[in-house]
Amino acid sequence: MVAMAGFIGRASEVAELRSAVDEAAAGRGGLVLLAGEPGIGKTRLAEEACHYAIAAGAAVVWGRCVELEGTPAYWPWIQVLRGIAQNAEHALRGRELGDMAREISRLVPEFGSGNGLIVRAPVDAGDRFRLFDAVSRLLRLVARTRNVVAVLDDLQWCDAASLALLRHLSRDVHDFGLLVVAVYRDLEIGRRHPLAAALPELSRERGARRLEVKGFGVDDVGRYLLAACGSVERGLVSSVHEQTGGNPLFVAELARLLQDEGELRQGALPQGVREVIGRRLDVLSGECKRVLEVASVLGRDFELELLCETARLPVPRVLEIIDEAVGAAFANPLRHQPGRYGFVHDLVRETLYQELPTPIRVQLHQGAAESLERRPGGGELAAPGPPLVPGGAGRRLGQGGLLCGAGRGAGDGQAGVRGGGSPIPDGTGQSLWPTGGGAPPLPAADRPG
Ligand SMILES: Nc1ncnc2c1ncn2[C@@H]1O[C@H](COP(=O)(O)OP(=O)(O)OP(=O)(O)O)[C@@H](O)[C@H]1O
Ligand SMILES: [Mg+2]
Repeated sequence: MVAMAGFIGRASEVAELRSAVDEAAAGRGGLVLLAGEPGIGKTRLAEEACHYAIAAGAAVVWGRCVELEGTPAYWPWIQVLRGIAQNAEHALRGRELGDMAREISRLVPEFGSGNGLIVRAPVDAGDRFRLFDAVSRLLRLVARTRNVVAVLDDLQWCDAASLALLRHLSRDVHDFGLLVVAVYRDLEIGRRHPLAAALPELSRERGARRLEVKGFGVDDVGRYLLAACGSVERGLVSSVHEQTGGNPLFVAELARLLQDEGELRQGALPQGVREVIGRRLDVLSGECKRVLEVASVLGRDFELELLCETARLPVPRVLEIIDEAVGAAFANPLRHQPGRYGFVHDLVRETLYQELPTPIRVQLHQGAAESLERRPGGGELAAPGPPLVPGGAGRRLGQGGLLCGAGRGAGDGQAGVRGGGSPIPDGTGQSLWPTGGGAPPLPAADRPG
């Protein structure tokens, strides 16, 4: 059994959140936008700030968005207002709430007489404004006796009406004791997501700050493993850090595996990790995902040209596709190594790699090995070259992870198998890119998902 680790690291983020809590306590409220990838520790960080706020006497209320059909409009705010009704009840007792209560009771009956009130969301703009104004006045009233921290978690699943209320409140929080902590997965906010449109405005409001939660550094990974598993070797810490990018959820999953199996085997990807990464990969276009699957065969770092050859796609197209992957934070161009890219962490590569059906994986290994063999030096390790241009002459080629063997290379040692490669089918039985001979694409039924 893995011990639950106490709160680790995050000194600067915690300091920033505490300062926002202190400011709110002094009557200068604000909005903290807490962003980061799934499992990176956003909620845990918000909880840490809440412990501090509670100790300082604040009323802390949470509203969690959910990804569930049928969730009512304003759901996170309904939870916040219910929390206010319970948490800050003494601040409201004996007050004449009048029309404020009437408006709010449309969402949260506790604010009305409680006798059979019909919950009815606003129907037009005027109606909506009255509701927003009532919520704002209520929070202001509560904050006079006790400042309020409202955490809205998982805003990537927020409905548009809740976002509109958040925008309304964010315009005037700076002059009363309300701190809103808005937590969201930034990588799941596509351009057409309602939160994407709201974020620029929200972050410009007075008293707004944005905190991006990043992976643990290697020392914090070491602290985590130590707390979870007892003693750990330095080499193992570096390896877990490298594989997980310091994502605490992934570190925790690997720690569990380490406890159960006594070692970390290549390819033994914990289910929790696979699910989280798999869900994230779903935001990519099908073509981008397929190209990344090809790249997963080449290793943790891969060379653009080898990727193009193995995927049988022209360089400009692959560059576009890789841009999508970089934008979604799955891969990065390697610094000082033009023409080379790397997966953000090895668990992403491994997830993609494991999603490939074995026959296709073998074909891709073959294709890549043949490309390398055709090169001057027959696939010997070469120094990274200059930027690659389509059909450019005098190209120098870096080596993918394919033939590098253990560690950052491909997972099943198939690289040296000889034979014809074939492009990956797109799940419809058609090739995603033009075939250039070799084995025929697999039928759709052989592709997972
Ligand atoms: N600073 C930390 N110290 C110890 N454990 C942590 C820390 N940050 C995160 N964790 C642990 O890592 C796991 C994931 O963290 P958390 O749930 O906060 O991630 P998240 O960013 O909110 O993810 P999601 O987007 O899926 O909601 C949890 O088990 C949490 O307890
Ligand atoms: Mg969370």
